[in-house]
Amino acid sequence: MILNQALEIARESRPQAEADYFDHLRIPSISALPQHAADCRRAAENLLRHFRRIGFDASLVEGNGHPTVRAEWMGAPGKPVLTVYGHYDVQPPDPLELWESPPFQPTVREGKVYARGAADSKGNHFACLKAVEYAMAAGGPAVNLRFLIEGEEEGGGSVLPGFLEREGPNLKTDFVLIDDGSFAVEGHPDLITGLRGIVYTEVEVTGPAVDLHSGGFGGVAPNPFNTLAHLIAALKDRAGHVKVPGFYDEVARPSAAELASWERLGITEQHLLEETGAPALEGELEYPVLERRWARPTLDVHGIRGGFTGEGTKTVIPAMATAKISMRLVPDQDPVKVYESFAAFCQSLATPGTRVAVRMIGPPAPPVLCGTDHAGARAAAAAFEAVWGQPVGYLRTGGSIPVTIDFQRALGAPMIITGFNQPGAGAHSPNEHMTLEYFHRGTEFLIRYLDELARV
Ligand code: BES
Ligand code: MN
Repeated sequence: MILNQALEIARESRPQAEADYFDHLRIPSISALPQHAADCRRAAENLLRHFRRIGFDASLVEGNGHPTVRAEWMGAPGKPVLTVYGHYDVQPPDPLELWESPPFQPTVREGKVYARGAADSKGNHFACLKAVEYAMAAGGPAVNLRFLIEGEEEGGGSVLPGFLEREGPNLKTDFVLIDDGSFAVEGHPDLITGLRGIVYTEVEVTGPAVDLHSGGFGGVAPNPFNTLAHLIAALKDRAGHVKVPGFYDEVARPSAAELASWERLGITEQHLLEETGAPALEGELEYPVLERRWARPTLDVHGIRGGFTGEGTKTVIPAMATAKISMRLVPDQDPVKVYESFAAFCQSLATPGTRVAVRMIGPPAPPVLCGTDHAGARAAAAAFEAVWGQPVGYLRTGGSIPVTIDFQRALGAPMIITGFNQPGAGAHSPNEHMTLEYFHRGTEFLIRYLDELARV
């Protein structure tokens, strides 16, 4: 690959790259909703078509869920192999009324494209797809490539984890690039050194056999909603401490050096107030905000269902109430141990006449740490600096990428976790967007990275 030629093609092809990226954004590949299964497959097939068009050997990995796109080019014998991970599935777009333009009609405003999945994570892998297209046109990448782009990241699934476990020995690679992160500071690229894990649960409280008249039975019948409220209130106190027994037992604090390096990033409470739009922050005030965000475990309620939530009044004691509750986990917490303790604690909070059932939704994801003292990370840092003109930051993130642990276990190769979208890009929120300049810089990053890697 002639570096300057690839970069030149990238610059000239920006309009076409945007058009292809926007077509990808038009596909509502919402993995969590069964009615969008065909759209997930369409997104996978769209990627497949692009990879084949540019000369990759590509196929769909099938399993019990949405397919993973596998695309390879092994035309640089003797050179390193880079495996690139991404996900084409997206979160549900609701609440729809808060979108300024429809979530699956990509719309450009002030240099940003607004669409569900623009940032998390179609912009990330599409920028890389375009980079390898241009590398192919400029004589072929200087290293060997394998893309694995799954469709189950946001919902949890077994297709890619199963493939990695089965095929691990045939997927030898020198480096794994997990391309599903984001910058923590606007305009400053980073290499992510740790992800939180997650256990996602549903807690169901049942009581009376049917919904009851609250006049006729209020005062005697157990109310599952009241019990659920008591239960939730008991899980976490107002000082941000999770009350699940043993929850903090295995938590390992980051080193003093790591904490000090985060202080130097200059991310202040003020930034977080702006990003959240909330009038105040909360949590464990005895820990610095970045530690709370990246290296402390926590618990959040995502939604509560049951009873009457329509217009007007309906006087009913509901027979059932459910809540979706997840816990973010940090090294060295064990998701299964935490889940068992959580489930037992919830059950102990049942009130007379109610029953509490807990189930896990999706596979548990353990927390991950990822070293950056290797040639693949140094090459990434150099490529980022060349494109953004800023040194990279080394920091963790509070989000989870469940399949990361499967890559570590099955391939054991040094890993780089990063991404091109910006803080405040609205991942999982209404009006998610990607700055187009950064989408193109992502492409330039990967072109330069391929060039750097050929020399390690
Ligand atoms: N891209 C995110 C993970 C992420 C978040 C990386 C913030 C860097 C910064 C990923 O798509 C994601 O949202 N993961 C889910 C996993 C969950 C549904 C099991 C998450 O963290 O909620
Ligand atoms: Mn996400």
